[in-house]
Amino acid sequence: MITQPTLEIDRLILRPFELSDAPEIQRLAGDRAVAATTENIPHPYEDGMAEAWVSGHAEALEKGADVHFAVVLKSTGDLAGAISLMRIVKGHRAELGYWIGKPYWGNGYCTEASQAVMAFGFDRFGLNRIHARHVAQNPASGCVMKKLGMTHEGRLRRHVRKWGRIDDLVLYGILKREWRGPVLHAGV
Ligand SMILES: CC(C)(COP(=O)(O)OP(=O)(O)OC[C@H]1O[C@@H](n2cnc3c(N)ncnc32)[C@H](O)[C@@H]1OP(=O)(O)O)[C@@H](O)C(=O)NCCC(=O)NCCS
Repeated sequence: MITQPTLEIDRLILRPFELSDAPEIQRLAGDRAVAATTENIPHPYEDGMAEAWVSGHAEALEKGADVHFAVVLKSTGDLAGAISLMRIVKGHRAELGYWIGKPYWGNGYCTEASQAVMAFGFDRFGLNRIHARHVAQNPASGCVMKKLGMTHEGRLRRHVRKWGRIDDLVLYGILKREWRGPVLHAGV
């Protein structure tokens, strides 16, 4: 069985979500600007959705399918976003996914959190490959993937339909042997 640690890094704590996070998840993920560039955050983000999402985490972890971390600012204790390894194939590969609440954009939090979660995936899940995807109209996410050292692996043309708009999906990936990220520091 996989246990989910709390990861402490420079400015962030990455911990399992708790039901008490639900109102803040709803507030941050419920921002149209956050939902707009994701493939699966619902909008409007209705009452009960955050609770349902958090309630599913234990089973997803138990199955070894997904692991979701709350991104929390060390300085204030504020919940800033979410970062996940999804569709995990243990000892092989997983998909990295994330969102950061709009008030916290542009501070490097997504990159810092991603580095820690990638280290966790490679070192503790035995992954050999981590991949990620973003819609073409989300260059900030592509920028994060490049900063993580991922390689551009392809583009699925006109693959995503959302809110009446069709967009390309851009694919990135990195192999363990290419990973030059930080050593995973401490659980707390
Ligand atoms: C994508 C997202 C997670 C980035 O979070 P963040 O904490 O702001 O990311 P970081 O600060 O680590 O890095 C963002 C980078 O994108 C760059 N960036 C921002 N807007 C950009 C744009 N329009 N074009 C190009 N680069 C852009 C920033 O300058 C920064 O790069 P830098 O450090 O070299 O200056 C956040 O914007 C978000 O949650 N968006 C909505 C949800 C979402 O899109 N999730 C990802 C789905 S694939």
